[in-house]
Amino acid sequence: MIDFILNNQDISTDLPSGMTVLDFVRYHKNLKGTKIGCREGDCGACTVLVGTLKGDRVEYISMTSCLLALASVQGKHIVTVEGLNMEKLTPVQQAMVDESGTQCGFCTPGFVVSMSGCCLSNEKVDRPSAVKAIDGNICRCTGYRSIERAAIHVADQLAAKDLKDAIGWSVKNGFIPAYFNGIKARLQAVQPSNHQPTTSNGVTIAGGTDLYVQKHDTMHHSPVHSVFNDEELKGIRIEGDHCIIGGACTAADLMGSAEMERLLPALKAHLLLVSSTPIRNMGTVAGNFVNASPIGDLTAMFIALDSAITLKGAAGARSLKLKDLYKGYKQLDKSPDEILTSVRFSVPSKNTRFHFEKVSKRTYLDIASVNTAIRLEMNGDTIRESHVSAGGVAPIPKYLANTSAFLAGKPISRETVHSAIKVMNDEIAPISDVRGTADYKRLLLRQLFFAHFMELFPERFTLTELVA
Ligand SMILES: Cc1cc2nc3c(=O)[nH]c(=O)nc-3n(C[C@H](O)[C@H](O)[C@H](O)COP(=O)(O)OP(=O)(O)OC[C@H]3O[C@@H](n4cnc5c(N)ncnc54)[C@H](O)[C@@H]3O)c2cc1C
Ligand code: FES
Ligand code: FES
Repeated sequence: MIDFILNNQDISTDLPSGMTVLDFVRYHKNLKGTKIGCREGDCGACTVLVGTLKGDRVEYISMTSCLLALASVQGKHIVTVEGLNMEKLTPVQQAMVDESGTQCGFCTPGFVVSMSGCCLSNEKVDRPSAVKAIDGNICRCTGYRSIERAAIHVADQLAAKDLKDAIGWSVKNGFIPAYFNGIKARLQAVQPSNHQPTTSNGVTIAGGTDLYVQKHDTMHHSPVHSVFNDEELKGIRIEGDHCIIGGACTAADLMGSAEMERLLPALKAHLLLVSSTPIRNMGTVAGNFVNASPIGDLTAMFIALDSAITLKGAAGARSLKLKDLYKGYKQLDKSPDEILTSVRFSVPSKNTRFHFEKVSKRTYLDIASVNTAIRLEMNGDTIRESHVSAGGVAPIPKYLANTSAFLAGKPISRETVHSAIKVMNDEIAPISDVRGTADYKRLLLRQLFFAHFMELFPERFTLTELVA
């Protein structure tokens, strides 16, 4: 059985654990406010809030229910738009009315749920963060300005929110129904999520943001083995001179980690280029690596960090470099029973430089045409050690071994960068596809390689000097 709370109702179900929360709420609970737009995580019409008991608080984040397995919501509180409704419109719903934020109305429940997440969060909400909260929601009618005005209106009202008791404050001020006050105690009585009774012979699933897009029909009726809430695969910690990240950490976990901010200050900005808020709340590092997409953004970043992964299976645990996981298109040095439990990389020093670049058709909520990351260890003006990755230019996420080796021992100069590009061109093999021709991808990678050096050494290069 899978036990959780849906709005104000206790749920205990033995339906297939691979069924999505979207199908469960619509077809088994007749809650039709949660809409089906794309079933691929793109439109946000199916957004729900997922509350997790953490210490003495319930923390809520948004997720797309079309990609969320029932197996992953054991011990959680799921909130659909019906769970927010009261006799009167809530201030979020009223802001949408006042600002004319709804026309056909199809997207409206998703927007309302995403904005309501701002009320429940224990973080301070300002105008930019309220607008960011709806970055995973698409509207075909309004042109967004009216919805953004509604979000800003909500942010202004939330300025007075009590950050020590966001839920109590939101109930008192009519943002959410009173039953939310009792959810913490009710969740304490439900079996914790990391002990969920999922079968271990189903397909391994984490956030589901790749699996459901690729295999929705087969997953829907099957048991799955969810590692999404497995405590052993969570957490970001420093051990000796290494940073260790649990395989089930999400992109949002990386963005919210003070440790990661300290080690790699630019990472948060790089991660903003990855998908949208609800997808970052779900998509995990292990899912990104094992999916083996040649354009996975986290994969490119962690290959360049010269990371190693730990795999655990029936034969025990072993460790290998992330770059060596990839043997051919979607072929891995990994047996089906092995779980990727963690990834680790050496803690950057003051001589480390790290950078990531990505080109996609849209800046946000789009996968890359080409991406690349670089880690340099400097000794004064000389590159002591270098690791460069590139996506979209080979059948696998590519570690540019020759380029990396070439850069080691070279001074930072225009000559070094241009010579490295020649080496790089010989070790990539892009193909023409929907994301561009092979020549275009070569050109993109060259430009992004220039960008690495412009961003990392702004005092050394101007655009014209470097590229000319
Ligand atoms: C709308 C949308 C936008 C996206 N945008 C981007 C983007 O900008 N950049 C990007 O890189 N990706 C993007 N993605 C892809 C996806 O979100 C990421 O690849 C994500 O990191 C996948 O993680 P997951 O936990 O959801 O994987 P899942 O779908 O749960 O799993 C993917 C694969 O990994 C396996 N797996 C998962 N965890 C483990 C584990 N611990 N051990 C062993 N195997 C495991 C699964 O069996 C499966 O084969 C996007 C996806 C969507 C839907
Ligand atoms: S239906 Fe479009 S994101 Fe879920
Ligand atoms: S109001 Fe029609 S899709 Fe947004």
